[in-house]
Amino acid sequence: MAEQKKLSVQEILALARKQKAEAAGEAAPASEPAAAAPEAAPPVAEAPAPVAAEAAPPAETPPKPAAPKPAGGKMSVAEMLAAARAQGAAKPAGAAAAAAPVPKPEAPAAPKPKPAAAEKNEAAPKVGGPKDTASILAAARKGAKPGPITKAEAAAKEKADPTTDEKPARVAPPMPVKPAAAMPKAAKGAPAEDRRGFLTVMFGSMLGLGYSALALAGGLWTLGLARFMYPNILTEPPSQFKVGFPSDFAPGKVEEKFKAQFGVWIVNTEYNGHLEIAAIRTVCTHLGCTPNWLEAEQKFKCPCHGSGFYKDGINFEGPAPRPLERYAITLADDGQLQVDKSKLFFEEMGQWSDPQSFYSV
Ligand code: FES
Repeated sequence: MAEQKKLSVQEILALARKQKAEAAGEAAPASEPAAAAPEAAPPVAEAPAPVAAEAAPPAETPPKPAAPKPAGGKMSVAEMLAAARAQGAAKPAGAAAAAAPVPKPEAPAAPKPKPAAAEKNEAAPKVGGPKDTASILAAARKGAKPGPITKAEAAAKEKADPTTDEKPARVAPPMPVKPAAAMPKAAKGAPAEDRRGFLTVMFGSMLGLGYSALALAGGLWTLGLARFMYPNILTEPPSQFKVGFPSDFAPGKVEEKFKAQFGVWIVNTEYNGHLEIAAIRTVCTHLGCTPNWLEAEQKFKCPCHGSGFYKDGINFEGPAPRPLERYAITLADDGQLQVDKSKLFFEEMGQWSDPQSFYSV
């Protein structure tokens, strides 16, 4: 039996063919014992077996393990195949029992076949079923002993060892490098960088502040230059303006609607027995205050020191030293009265007799 265990299938097949050839040469003598042999239980399948074994060995019905004939007798091809299969099935179990005293859950995979033995028994069926090419490649990449394993074992190994990279497609691409601004600042160990950043912020801020101040100064200087180039003019009302038709001013009436805007009263009064319309300046001759027209008292009254003036402008009370002043008033082309504030007429100087100082009604 020890010799039979060492035979490979090819050797067994070669031996079977050899026996067949020998049997063909001894056809007559050999058929007799086979037909007359009482132990013909296995030989029932012996006649078709050689042909069938050569044509399709895997399809042959498995013979019983106890069927092999003794070493001294002749064995059929079917018997030899059955014996080889029995040896193949019994060898791992026996070797595992001998080599691994402690039972392991992966008993079929534990007895790793040596390369020499694998080459020797390359035709023998491997234990564990179909091979997983991916597992073999992964083992080769790791540099470990390949040792063909099944798909189930590969899956179990992958679960047990998640670091395996049997599937390169799942490898994540390298992450991009973060910019310096996004890197976390080190709390310790980088005082120089902190000082540099502080100085940068300080000088940057000072530079920005300087630029802002310079821009502000430039803007102010531009505004000053524009104002300097603009002429100093007075936004006063025109010196000549029209106040209306002579008929608009009833005798004895003092019109105050031009006081606020033009500083003038239009008065229809009598002066030296002559009815005339005059334009009286609204400035007190004492210290320049603005008197008020009191309709009930029919006089101009200065609120500052109490100077009083008649309707025609002659002073009669208070500290005012002289009468109110008059503007020139003429009749315009359109028939309206036109006042010219550029010309003043003083009563104490006899100028009220000037025709431009009044309009005769
Ligand atoms: Fe008018 Fe003195 S200012 S009375």
